[in-house]
Amino acid sequence: MLLPVIMAGGTGSRLWPLSRELYPKQFICLHGQHSMLQETVMRLSGVEAQSPVVICNEEHRFLVAEQLRQIKKLSHNIILEPVGRNTAPAIALAALNAIEHDEDPILLVLAADHIIDDKKTFHAAIERAIAFAEEGSLVTFGIVPAGPETGYGYIHRGESVSGQQASPYKVQRFVEKPDLKTAEGYINSGEYYWNSGMFMFRAKRYLQELEKFRPDILEACKRAMANVKAGGDFISIDKADFNLCPDESVDYAVMEKTADAIVVPLDAGWSDVGSWSALWEVNEKDDSGNSLKGDTFVHNSKNCYINTDDQLVAAIGVEDLVIVNTKDAVLVAKRDQVQDVKRVVEFLKAEC
Ligand code: GDD
Ligand code: MG
Repeated sequence: MLLPVIMAGGTGSRLWPLSRELYPKQFICLHGQHSMLQETVMRLSGVEAQSPVVICNEEHRFLVAEQLRQIKKLSHNIILEPVGRNTAPAIALAALNAIEHDEDPILLVLAADHIIDDKKTFHAAIERAIAFAEEGSLVTFGIVPAGPETGYGYIHRGESVSGQQASPYKVQRFVEKPDLKTAEGYINSGEYYWNSGMFMFRAKRYLQELEKFRPDILEACKRAMANVKAGGDFISIDKADFNLCPDESVDYAVMEKTADAIVVPLDAGWSDVGSWSALWEVNEKDDSGNSLKGDTFVHNSKNCYINTDDQLVAAIGVEDLVIVNTKDAVLVAKRDQVQDVKRVVEFLKAEC
């Protein structure tokens, strides 16, 4: 049976000031009634799978356990990283842990911070991927690109795997986060998908590829797993060992290099909510294109995103703004410049 592995250890710095180190975006309700982590778990209902494994920073252990309890996920495994070493090691830890309990499960690796509107289509893509993962392919789910975004990985599709309709494609090339000019070329060619950051492969197959391309990461993860401490729902990774693990994403460490990647196209209203403008795009809006959350008064304003905790925010005669008001910080930005919000976080880190 499938084993979902939910990666929930990112910092989500482009959604400052709501997303913070102590409370990153995957634990916040940004779209709908539940946190993004809860949505990720709930979206799997109807898929024949084991209880998901969540892998996150140890600082967030009670937050994760509580959020899972709220949605009545009573049996779960939460792997705790003492430090973030990015997604290649996180998946390796989950894979190594999985093969101790099961012979060689198929991992469905998911990010904890995505929106997918069309659950049925998402489930169909998962079903379609299983047979290929079973045979040893490393499956990525490819999104039809809406523009030359530079925050995504790109997949150049090759020939169809089975030659039949609706068959996945071989991955000709995987390019993680190209520059703008390259991304524009990819969009114009019509042959590329965005990498959704969701994957499916057998646990041992991933570990094999990691051994081939980044044996240093695999070794460090094996050492850290050897001293693991398990208690209740938590599996704590040893700090001294994991500290020495290189920091690398699965995209650079494995997906760019493997010859056995295939892509299953996915058109299911996916968004990675990477920025305030992405959230504005997916949220409901009033007749003037304003997306409003909390206590707001808006007059003569259009295409704004306003989110406020408990103070009233009034906006008059403004356009294309993002205004986010929290207890201790306020963000005001042009909607097309919100990628630079991460600069605030860098500035704050440098101040500390
Ligand atoms: N456990 C754990 N540990 N999780 C992590 C860590 C870590 O050190 N770092 C990141 N994550 C989690 C994040 O919480 C998120 O759910 C997921 O892994 C992906 O990490 P991001 O940091 O959000 O990656 P990205 O958005 O820059 O890029 C990835 O996703 C894009 C689509 O959203 C790549 O896979 C791109 O190729 C892809 O297009
Ligand atoms: Mg992301």
